Order: sequence, then C-alpha cells, then structure tokens
Amino acid sequence: MTDTLRCAIVGTGAIAHSHAAAIAAYPHAQLVAVTDHSRATAETFAVAFGGAAVYDDLAALLAAEHPDVVHVCTPPGAHPAQVIAAFAAGAHVVVEKPPAPSLDQLQEMTDAATAADRQLAVVFQQRTGTAAAHVKRLLDSGALGRPLVAQCQTLWYRDAAYFAVPWRGRWETEGGGTTLGHAIHQIDLLAFLLGAWTRVEGRLWRLDRETQTEDVSTATVVFEGGVVAQVVSSTLSPRETSSIRIDTEKATVTVDHLYGHGHDNWRITPAPHVEPAEAAGWDLTGPEEGSGHLPLLRDVFDALRSGAPLPATAEAPARSLEIVAAIYASADADGQVITPAVLAAHPTHRTSFASTVIDLRPPR
Ligand SMILES: NC(=O)c1ccc[n+]([C@@H]2O[C@H](COP(=O)([O-])OP(=O)(O)OC[C@H]3O[C@@H](n4cnc5c(N)ncnc54)[C@H](O)[C@@H]3O)[C@@H](O)[C@H]2O)c1
Repeated sequence: MTDTLRCAIVGTGAIAHSHAAAIAAYPHAQLVAVTDHSRATAETFAVAFGGAAVYDDLAALLAAEHPDVVHVCTPPGAHPAQVIAAFAAGAHVVVEKPPAPSLDQLQEMTDAATAADRQLAVVFQQRTGTAAAHVKRLLDSGALGRPLVAQCQTLWYRDAAYFAVPWRGRWETEGGGTTLGHAIHQIDLLAFLLGAWTRVEGRLWRLDRETQTEDVSTATVVFEGGVVAQVVSSTLSPRETSSIRIDTEKATVTVDHLYGHGHDNWRITPAPHVEPAEAAGWDLTGPEEGSGHLPLLRDVFDALRSGAPLPATAEAPARSLEIVAAIYASADADGQVITPAVLAAHPTHRTSFASTVIDLRPPR
C-alpha cells in the first residue's frame, strides 16, 4: 500500500478545480505540482489549492517531481501526448472525458499504459453515486428481468455566444459536436448500465446554430442481449435535462437530472404483474452519495494505493467513445448500420469523427 499519492495536474482550467478538491478531500493524496499553458492561471490555481509547485510545461514537471498520478485536465486534443508522456515518466493517469479525440489515439494511450504497467483512469463521473451502483446491481443480477427498450436524452441549451468561441463547433478543433462534447456523459452512463453495444444507426443535424459540427443528433443504439435504445442529443433545448429511461420485463428505471444525480433523481416503477414485496426489495436504501468527481477519484486512489484493479466507474475508457464514433460513422454513410467489427476496420472514423451533417436551417 503506497502511503501518500503525489498528484500533479496539467491544465488548471475549470474542471481542474474538481480534481484539486477531490485530491484535498482524500487523506492519502497531495497535490504537489501543476502546469498550464498560462503560467498565471497555474500560479493562481496553485495558491488556491495549498501552494503546489508550478512548472512551465509537463516535461519539466515530470522530470522534477516524478508524481505518482498525473491528472490530465486539458482540452481533448492535448490528452494523447500528455497521457503518453506521463506513462513514460512512470505515473498513473487520470484523464478527463472525452479521453481522446479519436479511437486510434485512445488505443495508443492504453498501449502506453500497458507498456509502463500503469493505470489509465477515465473521468465519466456520471457512472458514480450510490443510486447508479444500486441500479447497475439490479440490472446485472437480473432482478429487473431482461432490459428491452431504452431512451437516452441529453437536451441542453447553448446559445449563439457559446458557439462564437473560435475552437467550438469545428471538427478540427473540437473533434465533434454535441454528441461528443455533451451527450457522451449520458451515453456513457447508459452503456455503463447496459454493457456492450452491437449496432448503431445515427444522423447528425444542424437546426439552428452557426457550427460546422452538429447541434442535434439522433441515433438508435442496440446493446448485447437485444436492448434497443433511442439516443437524442441537443444543444437547442430551453428546458434542459439529462435523462435515461430503461424499460425491463419487470420495471421502468428512470434518472432525470442535469449535471449530477442523487437518489431523488432515480425512480424504479414496477410492472403491473410484480408483487409489492418483490418491488420493495428494489428500494434505494442505505446511505446516499451523489455522483461526482469526489467518489470517483476516491475509489481510483484506493485502487492505486492498494494495487487493486481500477473500479468499474473509471475503467473501459473506450466504451462510450466507440458509440459516439459509430454515430458519426453512420451519419457519414447515410445512416448505415455500424457494428463493432465495421468500426474496428473503419477507414476514417477511428482517426477523425468529421462527418456529414444535414443542414435544415432556413435561409438567413
Ligand atoms: N467531467 C466533466 O464534467 C467535465 C466538465 C467540463 C470539462 N470537462 C473536460 O475537461 C477537459 C478540460 O475542460 P475545461 O472545461 O476545464 O477547459 P478549460 O478551457 O477551462 O481549461 C483547460 C486548461 O488547459 C490549459 N491548456 C490547454 N492546452 C494545454 C496544453 N497543451 N498544455 C497545458 N495546458 C493547456 C488551458 O490554458 C486551460 O487553463 C476537457 O477534456 C473537457 O471535456 C469535463
């Protein structure tokens, strides 16, 4: 058991605050160093979180500090090189979503982890929380019967000013539209609950915003065992919600929230034929912990210190990225069915998600 994990953060912007807070909350971790393109940002951040050392770049940080864990909190395009450099320096890595801008680059990252015998933990914090764990146990154990049909909605609102930032809404700089940038959280939670996907059909739409990428996408995703999920992703929706609904043989499970969930956000409704005593066994009881970076990083740190495998909440970095890639690949082929085998051998969509968007905006 390692005593105290020496952590470093690269990219001290918005989400890095959640990492620093989780490091501070864990009794056996310490933030020792930070670096950012903007030294001023890194210095302000270091002062706010206990005076970590500030470095001009990641190479200098790694050479001087030899951290146990590097938290990669930069934009997705910077993740692959930084993650691979951290592994080469002998650190474990915690990388923010989406873990990489392409499946091939994610493969290079996981290969580097294997070569260095280090762990790559991915941040999809929607998988965490006691309610998601409870529902996953019920589904995995078969207590709710076979899952049949599902809906997954990321209906968010981002105005024109949001897309006016130069790197947003462009394939080259953002990598994808709302499917990759926003909906991946909910798609990831859906796949965490339902498991491996077997086919995807998708379409990308541009209905209003000035973007090169999509502002809406629609897709059908089929999971192993024959669960059919309808996935709708939007940045045009004034009443915002993140929702999943899974209808099984015995119950409907729903979660409705925006950026995080606790017990109150989840509901399990039994089918008419289910006896009340059986349904009572599905109740969410016991202490509540909401979803978030705190429980995710606590469980990752526990695993790294003890040498145990990563928790299910932090492993399988490719699962939801593959579904997103398959939606883009399908849309680029006029809605063609994409299977894991087709995606694995795909000539373009393992390296770039750039795809065909159907533009339905009225002339301006
Ligand atoms: N898990 C979540 O809920 C969540 C929420 C928001 C963002 N994110 C993810 O976190 C990552 C960062 O997003 P953010 O919102 O914090 O962005 P941000 O723009 O607020 O912060 C990114 C920081 O990285 C720095 N930076 C950029 N390129 C760099 C490089 N090559 N080397 C060093 N520093 C560099 C920037 O100067 C900036 O300070 C993205 O992958 C994003 O998708 C996750």
